[in-house]
Order: sequence, then C-alpha cells, then structure tokens
Amino acid sequence: MTTPLRLGIAGLGTVGAGVVKIVRQKANLLADRAGRPVTITAVSARSRDKDRGVNISAYAWEDDPVALATRDDVDVLVELMGGSDGPAKAATEAALAAGKHVVTANKAMLAYHGQALAEAAEAAGAALRFEAAVAGGIPVIKALAEGLAGNDITRVMGVMNGTCNYILTRMQSAGLPYEDVFEEARKLGYLEADPSLDVGGIDAGHKLALLAAIAFGTRVNFGAVALEGIERITIDDIRHADHLGYRIKLLGVAQMTGRGLEQRMSPCLVPKHSPLGQLEGGTNMVVLEGDQVEQIVLRGPGAGEGPTASAVMGDIIDIARGARMPVFGVPAADLTQATSARTTAPAPYYLRMALEDKPGALAKVATVLGDAGISIDRMRQTRHEARTAPVLIVTHSTTRAALDEALAAMTGLDVIAQPPVALRIETA
Ligand code: NAP
Ligand code: HSE
Repeated sequence: MTTPLRLGIAGLGTVGAGVVKIVRQKANLLADRAGRPVTITAVSARSRDKDRGVNISAYAWEDDPVALATRDDVDVLVELMGGSDGPAKAATEAALAAGKHVVTANKAMLAYHGQALAEAAEAAGAALRFEAAVAGGIPVIKALAEGLAGNDITRVMGVMNGTCNYILTRMQSAGLPYEDVFEEARKLGYLEADPSLDVGGIDAGHKLALLAAIAFGTRVNFGAVALEGIERITIDDIRHADHLGYRIKLLGVAQMTGRGLEQRMSPCLVPKHSPLGQLEGGTNMVVLEGDQVEQIVLRGPGAGEGPTASAVMGDIIDIARGARMPVFGVPAADLTQATSARTTAPAPYYLRMALEDKPGALAKVATVLGDAGISIDRMRQTRHEARTAPVLIVTHSTTRAALDEALAAMTGLDVIAQPPVALRIETA
C-alpha cells in the first residue's frame, strides 16, 4: 500500500471548494497519475456552517489555519484564503517551518513575500508551488520554469486579468460605458473583494512580477512594475480604438534589456485582428519568447472554480510524484536583484484629451508635442456642444520619456480641460 499524500486545505471559497470537489470526484484518476492516493485530512475557513456546495463532513475542522498547517497528519498545506499578509502568510510560514509543502493560488502574497517564502521553503527542503496564482487554468509556470528551461527568455507578455478583459470586451461588444460594465462585473462576482486590485492593474502586476522572476532569474520585484489601470478608459476610447483598427487590452510586458528589467502593466492598443486583439471575456493569454522557441502562445481561462482548481491539482500531483524544484526555477539565493528600467522602445501613442473650445487651443497642444520631438500621425476633433472639445491624436513612434515630457508640459497649458489619456499602441 503506497502512502497517501494528505492535504490540509485552508480556504473553502471558489477555489478551495473546487479543489475539494476534484479530490472527491477523481480519486482514482488522481491516484493513478500521482502514483499514490491524494486525500484531504483537514480543512479551515472562517465560517464552519457555510454551505460549500460539497460535503466536507469527513474532514477534521480547524478554526485556525496555522493549526491546520502544522498538523501531524497534513503533508501539504493548500493555501486558498488569499491576502498578501494575515492568515495566508502566517499559515504558509508555519507549514514551511514544519517542513510541509505548500500549494497556493495567492499571487498577492508571493508578489510581496515571494523571496522570503522561497528561501524558507528551500531551507526546509519543502516545495512551494503556485501555478494557480498566474493566469488561472493556464499552466504557464510549468511551461516557463520547466518546458522552456533550455531557453534564454527574451520577453514575457500577455493579458493576465480576466475581469479587466471582460470589462473592456463587454464595453466594446455592448457599447456600454465603463461604469455600467463595472457594475455588471460586480454582480457577476468577477471583481476581487477590493476591485482596485483588478481595475487598477495590481492583480495583473502581481502576476507579471512572478513570471518575470522565473523568466529572468531575478527576485520578485512588484514595486518596480510600471502600473496603470483601466479606470480612465471610456466608451469613446473603445470606439476611437475600433475606428483606428485596434482593441484596448490591459497588457503586461516584462523584458530584460541592457539597462535592466522592464516590467509594465498598462492599457494598450493592440491590432484588433491579432491574437491578443481577439481575446474575449475572462480569457487570459500569455506569450513567452525564448531564443530557441521564438514564441509560445498560451490561451485559456484565467479564473473561476474549475480552471483555478485544475492548476492547484497539477501542483499537488507534482508533489505527490516527488517532483522538487526551486520555487522560482533557480535557487532563491541565486536570484539576482535586477536593476529596474523604464521602457525606452519607441511606439506610437494614442492621446485623448478635452480642450477648451477657444482659438489656438489645438495649436498649443501641437506645439508642446513638437517641442518634445513628437510628430503627429493623425488628429481628430469630434463634434461637441459643450464648451470643451474632445480631441484625439495618434502620434508617430516616440519614446515614453518624450511623451512624459509632453504630458507634463500639457498640464501647464490653460487650454487643457481634462488631462490626456495616453495609451501605447503595441504592434509587435
Ligand atoms: P474566496 O472565494 O473569497 O474564498 C476565500 C476562502 O478563504 C473562504 O472560504 C474564506 O472563509 C477563507 N478565509 C478567508 N479568511 C480566512 C481566515 N482568516 N481564516 C480562515 N479562512 C479564511 O476566494 P477565492 O476566489 O477562492 O480565492 C482564493 C485564492 O485564490 C486567492 O489568493 C485568490 O487570489 C486566488 N485565485 C482566485 C481565482 C478565482 O478565480 N477565484 C483565480 C486565481 C487565483 P469563508 O468562506 O468562511 O468566508
Ligand atoms: N481577479 C482575477 C482576474 C482572478 O480577474 O483575473 C484570477 O486571478
């Protein structure tokens, strides 16, 4: 009789309940694939009485996730509570200190404490796995850390927040304003408890920082991600972009350059017929580029019970099989502290602003752009009845530094009624 792998599951919400269901419904399949039974011995959540949609009466109950993490009959803590600190971090640290493996979907915790937790796991000889933390059901960490281990990774990019992609595509398809679709997303339960994590680009930034660490062998540095959310995107931006042949996506890009590690997460225009442009709803897409493979594109569900629990189970089965590897692909002590760099690669930019409707207003803006060395490709002033005029400008390729210089100068102009929204146009 082979020894079972015994799980302690902390958190029985969307993902936790999904994991319990898979363990119960697919016991034979999991045992075959893992080479040993996978069982649950104990669970923890805030409320003991809540209906979880799955029978948990056979498992021991712990009110305290730290107590769950250190039980003698638990081999793996499955941390599915969320939150960068608090009980999630306390339980993870306690499990690792006790030499137990940890599987988590918690990108926030790893974005802030990934280095310390990786060091703790490796010192204890325990696994710390987090496939579910990035892009839900897409096995992107496995692809990057294992499948592409023979490559120098040159760039990682993609759409990694399903909620933002849902909001942006729904605005496009239904012609609805941001505020209406945001409310719709809230009613559908898509938004994080703190919605700014989604629409502020923070959740996607956490994910990008984790991928960058694995891709480039660097310490997780979420603080260095240049972050911009989707809160200022209006239905007019969606329509203008469509008219120009683009879709707006919250796009993350990480690449190592001679100047350092670039990490940015911001709304960008991408060609509407490109794979990224065609990405609908809550779907995620991650593009991995390596010197040997050129480009790998992974696409799939970025959130939800089934997809996220699927990723958690993949990690659990790896642990049951005895697979061990450094948390971020190379030993934590060898991860380098990369210099962070801002993007210098030039690109065209989309600018939308409101100007006071008075003589010379447009000329002042054009002068500011010209002074920063930015050439205008296209410009359009749409019809208006109020005292401000909506203006759309598409620049020729320019650097972010030049654009920032122009944006700063514009704030001093007496004709700017509403600060510009500036979106990079990604063509490559
Ligand atoms: P959720 O539905 O809100 O569930 C959270 C669970 O944690 C609940 O069962 C809650 O207990 C429990 N919990 C919270 N605080 C606790 C505490 N102090 N002590 C004990 N239990 C506590 O969250 P979720 O959507 O499943 O997400 C879980 C994790 O997966 C998060 O890190 C999230 O970022 C990550 N993730 C989620 C998705 C997704 O699609 N949902 C996708 C990828 C990653 P009660 O039920 O009793 O309140
Ligand atoms: N809030 C996240 C999203 C959940 O919308 O992608 C999955 O990480």
